[in-house]
Amino acid sequence: MSKRVLTTESGAPVADNQNSATAGVGGPILLQDQHLLEKLARFNRERIPERVVHARGSGAYGYFEVTDDVTAYTKADFLGEVGKKTELFIRFSTVADSLGGADAVRDPRGFAVKFYTEEGNYDLVGNNTPVFFIKDPIKFPDFIHSQKRDPFTGKQEADNVWDFWAHAPEATHQVTWLMGDRGIPASYRHMNGYGSHTYQWTNEAGEAFFVKYHFKTNQGIRSLSAEQAAEVVGSDANSHQTDLLQSIERGVNPSWTLYVQVMPAAEAAEYRFNPFDLTKVWPHSDYPLQRVGRMVLDRNPDNVFAEVEQAAFSPNNFVPGIGPSPDKMLQGRLFAYADAHRYRLGVNHTQLPVNAPKATEADNYGRDGYMATRNGSRHDKNYEPNSYQGPAQTDTPLSAPLAIHGWTGTHAAPLHTKDDDFFQAGELYRLMSEDEKNRLVANIAGGLSQVSREDLIEKNIAHFAAADADYGKRVEEAVRALRD
Ligand code: HEM
Repeated sequence: MSKRVLTTESGAPVADNQNSATAGVGGPILLQDQHLLEKLARFNRERIPERVVHARGSGAYGYFEVTDDVTAYTKADFLGEVGKKTELFIRFSTVADSLGGADAVRDPRGFAVKFYTEEGNYDLVGNNTPVFFIKDPIKFPDFIHSQKRDPFTGKQEADNVWDFWAHAPEATHQVTWLMGDRGIPASYRHMNGYGSHTYQWTNEAGEAFFVKYHFKTNQGIRSLSAEQAAEVVGSDANSHQTDLLQSIERGVNPSWTLYVQVMPAAEAAEYRFNPFDLTKVWPHSDYPLQRVGRMVLDRNPDNVFAEVEQAAFSPNNFVPGIGPSPDKMLQGRLFAYADAHRYRLGVNHTQLPVNAPKATEADNYGRDGYMATRNGSRHDKNYEPNSYQGPAQTDTPLSAPLAIHGWTGTHAAPLHTKDDDFFQAGELYRLMSEDEKNRLVANIAGGLSQVSREDLIEKNIAHFAAADADYGKRVEEAVRALRD
């Protein structure tokens, strides 16, 4: 076997990778040592901006296989035939901490899937929670500021966390979820994933449906108590990464079964909950789960930076048969992600192998910019329309149009008959066993008792009491016991 030769970036052989070139033995370094200059300069540029949220993550490749016929609801080709398989990449993540944080913390988990379909990449960028803290994207930067490190102390501050929630009664449902038993998953393999938002499916006949995605883990749900998590963080800050990596390396391939809840579009207006409010679920008794297929993860990336750090998921990457709903949060996200990618990775991030389509090719008139590798040939025109057989539009919308009415303006999301900020949080609480309630209350009190201002504590307790009087009373007693 021929010995591999170490080269510079331009491919020239490197004579010495142990000693830099100097003017005489023991003299100063020479500017002509190209290998040294290049090595130091490249090293300085190894980091790119971390994701503004979901900075810590782990990725894996796998496939999706259709097990049930859903063609009555969507014309999406990758869901079009039982047995059809589509390659995919998933990135799991925590949300609030920076790259240097730990995995086993109380925080939602990201669940971002990129399906490399023959009709282009479909990104489903969800979480392990069916709901979210807020329902208008205008609040997102404030929400995240309150949960991440404080600009003065450089630490996460209980005052900021609970001050935001004191002003966001609509967060009570998600806070109850987060402080409950599923708030700290044991690993990425042992949690469910949800699209969380309502999306729109359109079938071949042009009929529209609203859907919610549920990925149920086939490994079973496993979570950590606050005490167990503290121990895990102390022994392996990368516990989720270790678990996912080792499991797939051993050939123990994790899988999830995908279900959807399907609502005919005509039912949306009269449903008892606003179906486009991300702080609400659709009870399964109203819209049962229907199985679609299974997702299997069977390959680890070869390089975490190239394939996980540089992965870019955008809720705006749809394929024919799938589109957005009017959920305001989703609408905000349709802008935010690709904008983040252009800043974090550059305008040509879609040409990176992990992000580029795999089962089809991108073919358009976008050109140039930093790091362009797919820039057309001498025969390709860079404008359209043209007389040279360049790619042309299909005139077929990806999904059905959404009806709109009313006036422009800054409007709160409309309330349906059963909508308020607390009912579903109360339902979740009342579903819990006595032990679960005790742990939930202890987790909330552990955080809330750290808050320095009484008025913020009272406002938060009022939200739990509005969800369920017993819930509020227990939180209040537990907080008082810790503070007295
Ligand atoms: C209006 C509300 C939201 C805004 C403006 C927002 C914005 C962002 C931004 C800018 C990123 C970083 C993207 C990147 O650098 O690649 C991100 C990451 C992420 N967000 Fe959101 N987000 C919102 C709500 C949500 C919700 C509701 C979910 C789940 C249902 C979610 C799930 C994720 C996930 C999973 C990632 C990480 C994606 C990856 O692994 O690369 N976000 N978000």
